[in-house]
Amino acid sequence: MSAPGEFPDGFLWGAATSAYQIEGSPLADGAGVSVWHRFSHTPGNTKDGATGDVACDHYRRSAEDVAIMQSLGLMAYRFGLAWARILPAGHGRVNPAGIGFYDRLVDLLLDAGIEPVVTLYHWDLPAALEDRGGWLNPDSPAWFAEYARVAFEALGDRVHWWATLNEPWVVMDAGYLFGVNAPGHRNRYEAPIVSHHQLLAHAEAVRLYRSLSLGGRIGIVVNLEPKDPATASDPDRAAAARDDVYNNQYHLDPVFFGRYPEALREIFGDAWPRFRDQEVARIREPVDFVGVNYYTRRLVRHDPGAMLGWSPAPPPAGSVTMATGWEVHPAGLARALAELRARYGGVPIVITENGAAFPDPARAEGATLDDPLRVSCYREHLLALRAEIARGADVRGYFAWSLLDNFEWSSGYSLRFGLVHVDYETQRRTIKASGHFYREIIRTRGAALDRAWAAPG
Ligand code: FCB
Repeated sequence: MSAPGEFPDGFLWGAATSAYQIEGSPLADGAGVSVWHRFSHTPGNTKDGATGDVACDHYRRSAEDVAIMQSLGLMAYRFGLAWARILPAGHGRVNPAGIGFYDRLVDLLLDAGIEPVVTLYHWDLPAALEDRGGWLNPDSPAWFAEYARVAFEALGDRVHWWATLNEPWVVMDAGYLFGVNAPGHRNRYEAPIVSHHQLLAHAEAVRLYRSLSLGGRIGIVVNLEPKDPATASDPDRAAAARDDVYNNQYHLDPVFFGRYPEALREIFGDAWPRFRDQEVARIREPVDFVGVNYYTRRLVRHDPGAMLGWSPAPPPAGSVTMATGWEVHPAGLARALAELRARYGGVPIVITENGAAFPDPARAEGATLDDPLRVSCYREHLLALRAEIARGADVRGYFAWSLLDNFEWSSGYSLRFGLVHVDYETQRRTIKASGHFYREIIRTRGAALDRAWAAPG
């Protein structure tokens, strides 16, 4: 039994990253090109033309990074596999050097007493598949299943936690509707098809995993963001309600109910395809957990000129905002979990990402780097989480985003989310105060949330 103030027994404390955001050496040892490599190398797509060519150089420094995880006291580490390292053309030939990298990483983690949690797809689709239509191609679920099989067979004896997709909503919305993420499409007709194929791919991988009887757990990772109307007007309320369905229910209703929310037809209008009911029903496949990525809540206003008829409104006056512009809103984490429980029942939850970007200097001068805003952000979110667990949320673990400062997609290196600072000139790592604070939280199983805490001098 856990003592007052502590998180439940067996709670997994970890930190998360993704392949393209930290690894660097994207084409090393026979890897194929990914859509993110191609997208970031196309001028105009990322801030200052940033690419993941070097990133945190984790591909060559994984032993050092695992030692840092160990010094933080992490019990688990969530990372992504680069599909194109493993299958350079997306399907067909397996590249032994690609799988070998992850094989060694898993062993390093296990030797350090750290549980590996693997995300199969964190947005870096092999470019060779994009050339064949990518997620628009009805063969994409089969491609994904082929890749998943290779990963399960190579790592499934030691990896017992698997996430199929990271944030399929973002892939659809940012990648295919608004064009700000790879592959940079802007097409209302494509978006629902992309979601559909991703979800079929997810379900295929879950079925395959079960058939292999490897004994671990498998789930899907979604980004949840509670919505509130910007004003009390009817159009704003209706917009917030639609955005809630679009962001928070679109990719979970099919997983739990085998159907899409009705409101999507209205939202997408003539761009909503006539999916066959039987096919949508195949997405319903029991998962062992839902991974929840939580960063903020959103105020929404009616906006007839916008792509879907609404747009985000600025955070309320006086709120603390992150470097991303997102409102710091810890209560939204509890609310997201309560809404999830109300709609889908008591499925086990893992907080697969939570964290914040605040401006940190490019160079860390001393032995540690003070980041008081991030420290209080973690404290407040973990307090809200602990209270929600006391109210009945079945949460099995928490992963800080991110272990390291890294390539933040189209924002490049301008946003720092790490518990550990990365000096991109030297690749020197410096644990931030938030990293030390997090170690104390882990050591005390959360009890330190109630105590005053000072960063080591
Ligand atoms: C999430 C992504 C993750 C990172 C954080 C800040 O949407 O999953 O890769 O970019 O946001």
